[in-house]
Amino acid sequence: MTGRAAVLGALGALLLIAACDQRMIKQDKDIVWGESKLFEDGKVVQAPPPGTVARGELAYEATLGERPAMSAALLARGQERFDIFCSPCHSRLGDGEGMIVQRGMPHPPSFHSQRLREAPDEHFLQVIANGYGAMYSYASRVPPTDRWAIVAYIRALQLSQNVEVAALPADARERLEGAGR
Ligand code: HEC
Repeated sequence: MTGRAAVLGALGALLLIAACDQRMIKQDKDIVWGESKLFEDGKVVQAPPPGTVARGELAYEATLGERPAMSAALLARGQERFDIFCSPCHSRLGDGEGMIVQRGMPHPPSFHSQRLREAPDEHFLQVIANGYGAMYSYASRVPPTDRWAIVAYIRALQLSQNVEVAALPADARERLEGAGR
């Protein structure tokens, strides 16, 4: 009799566990790539809030905040790094017509759009570090000081396509006006 009671007890416990299991399966939950009612943008997968630093990366990230002084050497370094790492897609002019794009890579936006002219330096640093849409991260290939150099050079590229003639130094203005004649 006691044996039977034990078997029945064990069976009851099993049923109870099974019932619990059922309820856990049926609980409300969001599926990774699905929609979420919890967040305003309706996405389950949320980007880390701005300023989030990965574990163990604090010292490395700290160097990101240190803008190097502007110099011809910084621009030259930026040009060299840009031509190596960015121009294959963005083109050496930054208009987004690079060779890889001509071979089928999605088109990046031109750096000469009003939006990217007005975008702060930090936006470019972020894109280099974390990637953007179809563009992957360059964090492993472009160290923080080179990111600043590249951003300085992108600013120079933007200026090269969008400058008031009156703002040019006299000798450059003469050359330009001479070329127009
Ligand atoms: C393999 C091609 C490729 C390379 C190399 C590349 N990018 Fe991009 N980049 C893209 C594409 C494609 C986009 C557009 C992505 C999208 O909108 O989904 C983009 C977008 C951008 C944007 C625009 C973000 C915005 O606000 O619209 C910036 C800035 C940028 N890239 C900077 C860089 C810099 C700096 C480098 C070099 C360190 C670089 N990219 C290298 C393909 C590339």
